[in-house]
Amino acid sequence: MITLHATEATLAEGKAPLKVVWVRRGELTPQGEALDARLGGFLRRAMAEAGFRGEAGESLLLATPEGHFLLFGLDEDLRATGGRLAQALSKLSFPEALVEALEAYSLAEGLLLGAYRFDRYKGSKEEKPMALQLSGARPEELERAKKVAEGVYWARDLVNEPPNVLTPEALAEAALSLTALGVEVEVLDEEAIRALGMGAFWAVAQGSENPPRFLQLRYAPEGARQRLDLVGKGLTFDSGGYSLKPTESMATMKGDMAGAAAVLGAMKSAALLGLPLELRGYIAACENLVSGRAYRVGDVLKTLSGKTVEVMNTDAEGRLTLADALAYAERQGAERILELSTLTGAAVVALGEEVAALFATEETWGRQVEEAARRAGEKVWPMPLEKAYREKLKSPVADLKNVGDRNGGAITAALFLAEFARVPLVHLDIAGPAFAKKAHALGPEGGTGFGVRTVLQVAQGLAGVA
Ligand code: BES
Ligand code: ZN
Ligand code: ZN
Repeated sequence: MITLHATEATLAEGKAPLKVVWVRRGELTPQGEALDARLGGFLRRAMAEAGFRGEAGESLLLATPEGHFLLFGLDEDLRATGGRLAQALSKLSFPEALVEALEAYSLAEGLLLGAYRFDRYKGSKEEKPMALQLSGARPEELERAKKVAEGVYWARDLVNEPPNVLTPEALAEAALSLTALGVEVEVLDEEAIRALGMGAFWAVAQGSENPPRFLQLRYAPEGARQRLDLVGKGLTFDSGGYSLKPTESMATMKGDMAGAAAVLGAMKSAALLGLPLELRGYIAACENLVSGRAYRVGDVLKTLSGKTVEVMNTDAEGRLTLADALAYAERQGAERILELSTLTGAAVVALGEEVAALFATEETWGRQVEEAARRAGEKVWPMPLEKAYREKLKSPVADLKNVGDRNGGAITAALFLAEFARVPLVHLDIAGPAFAKKAHALGPEGGTGFGVRTVLQVAQGLAGVA
């Protein structure tokens, strides 16, 4: 646990048992130089002796009668530097430290994200609290970083919760906690889902003893003039159904609700920040399991939109749940939709673990989201909604089938979704970056909260407070 505090004290004047000194290519910052002058050049001598040049994330801890000093390599990317510093600090046990803020917002965001841990189910917690003073930071910048990080933390927690705990009902309970922040939350149960005609969502859900829930959220601050509708894939577990996944592929499928987590996390941060625009969120939450009631390969489903779908693979379940969620969002008057889903392994094959695939049915909207992601420091790359591949989804018996062939799998999935949105849609396939298989600069292995920061940046842009 790390708490951030703004201070006007400089490195040379301030008092703290540990002072962090930035080093870039063997050079100190002006604040570091001033400190070193006071220490009679001790820092430079120690650097020379150790041959320390401050490569990104590299550090050197020095103990003196005046206190401890941590020389720390500064990266171009200040967020990543903050993340690495938080991880280095968590391994030392100082109750307090002082660091030069530089560009305070980015550093603070990195520090908070890098300090994230998920140890709810561990007997022994490694956590030692540390108060970090940021020299030259403005309190408002730190406040904003905290509110953004809070949404990202929540999204990560939701992804990291095991699937026996985070059932569709538990996800609905989690969403309901947002009412405390003034977000309206409506939960539809299995009967309501069926009665509404969400035949595709219902079919995916019907194999589980844990009933599905459809979540509808609304954050509508007074005076909001813009509106953004968010849709998130909410599979609390994806076994693949009868098109069963092998065990290794199933291992991370508790994270198949990362899109939903991003929507919830972003709505939480937006409410905390008081962003002046209307946000709506839609989540079809269910499990994809195998049972005597589970849907089959060959089933024909009637979606909320009226279109019918032939199921040719029960592991392509996300697009079925999303088809109904998208149609529902349109019924609620969505003008533009941003949808996030861990939709295809093919997106991971195409772009790897760090980059999300971006598909847009309308160019301007696509570029807006792309630019927002760049600013937010989340990696996305535009992919084509190639119409020529639409015929891969033709079914002999229904309006559509739910899979194409092996080729271009992320594209055919996106084309499928596009069939259910008439308003401008951006689909982010976050199957790669939603779940980290190993620790990284901005956090440990597990849920990353990918998408929260992009959604917030999009929202800020629409609200005109970017
Ligand atoms: N949830 C998976 C996609 C996924 C794969 C997410 C890897 C995260 C990491 C999705 O429901 C799925 O299984 N998709 C299939 C589609 C195929 C049957 C057309 C896939 O990608 O194999
Ligand atoms: Zn699947
Ligand atoms: Zn899935």
